[in-house]
Amino acid sequence: MAETKTILRALAGEVQDVPPIWMMRQAGRYLPEYRATRAQAGDFLSLCYNPDLAAEVTLQPIRRYGFDAAILFADILLVPQALGADLWFVTGEGPRLSTITTQAEFDALKPAMDIHETLSPIYETVRILSRELPSETTLIGFAGAPWTVATYMIAGRGTPDQGPAHALRLENPALFDALISRITAATIDYLSMQIEAGAEVVKIFDSWAGSLPDDAFEKYAVEPTRAITRALKERHPGIPIIGFPREAGAHYVGFARETGVDCVALDNSADPDWAARHVQVDGCVQGNLASRHMVTGGQALVDETRQIVQAFSKGPHIFNLGHGITPDADPENVQLMIDTVRGG
Ligand code: CP3
Repeated sequence: MAETKTILRALAGEVQDVPPIWMMRQAGRYLPEYRATRAQAGDFLSLCYNPDLAAEVTLQPIRRYGFDAAILFADILLVPQALGADLWFVTGEGPRLSTITTQAEFDALKPAMDIHETLSPIYETVRILSRELPSETTLIGFAGAPWTVATYMIAGRGTPDQGPAHALRLENPALFDALISRITAATIDYLSMQIEAGAEVVKIFDSWAGSLPDDAFEKYAVEPTRAITRALKERHPGIPIIGFPREAGAHYVGFARETGVDCVALDNSADPDWAARHVQVDGCVQGNLASRHMVTGGQALVDETRQIVQAFSKGPHIFNLGHGITPDADPENVQLMIDTVRGG
């Protein structure tokens, strides 16, 4: 049967007159219905681990906007938690974790195969979604890339320059590499279970790939994504994979070929005309409107959206933001972006 889901068609390399669209962090605090469900859950992590409520917030932006894809509601930091790290969120500040900087702390982590004990509610969320989503909507699962997840596990929090992770990779490469391997193995098992539960695409978020210097990008951004991609495609032939080496700059070129991902998600610092010539030549790209337009709106939003659609119109393209939508965004600007993509 010919594929009817527009996201899957783009990922298979089809050029469409109107690119399919979804949005990073589409279930989030800019939506009043999300804030209400999050209050009902109590806190962010309780929401992630409650399959009915996590499915509900995943569906909210689909009902409101009719996006072409839904992304599982969860977080990249659930994998460190499943490996045994303590995890909590400080309101207004972000995540906090117990740190891994010594061999003894690493040795206390659980083996990758034990993560499902903690993560089984996430698979239940995926099963609910695969039953309840409209037939035209693609379900995307996700995980963090090993480097990005390691930056949080080492520092115990988000950091502006990923300094503690860079220090560990230079000072104790054996320990650092062991941590990357553990996260890679856990991520393969985690994404594999999401696919078995009904995820039709998976995305690997390497939010801090851009801070890796040239001589480390291959080893810590390309290789782990390649290992995950290879293992998933072996276990689930044909599963489409989106890679997001955020702020990779010149390293976006060849990333799909080197890792085997089917689509490269671009952040908004990549020029669309440049990316069409140098990245889209290898296949589907996703992106890359600046999130700030969801706050500021107006003609600039319309103009920029049209330019991106135009720049990527000769190849396979999934429209998206260049990073997640922020809590101060206006829900009406999201509608304006969608209308502009779909209506010209
Ligand atoms: O995109 C989606 O709608 C799906 C759900 C999703 C969340 N986080 C929900 C979330 C996804 C795909 C993520 C990925 C994620 N989480 C990344 C990679 C993508 C990126 O943004 O670079 C990272 C680095 C994280 C870690 C994380 N989670 C941080 C740093 C924070 C705090 C910052 C913030 O925005 O508050 C979170 C919290 C988080 N994850 C929220 C949501 C909706 C906000 C929590 C809340 O409701 O208070």
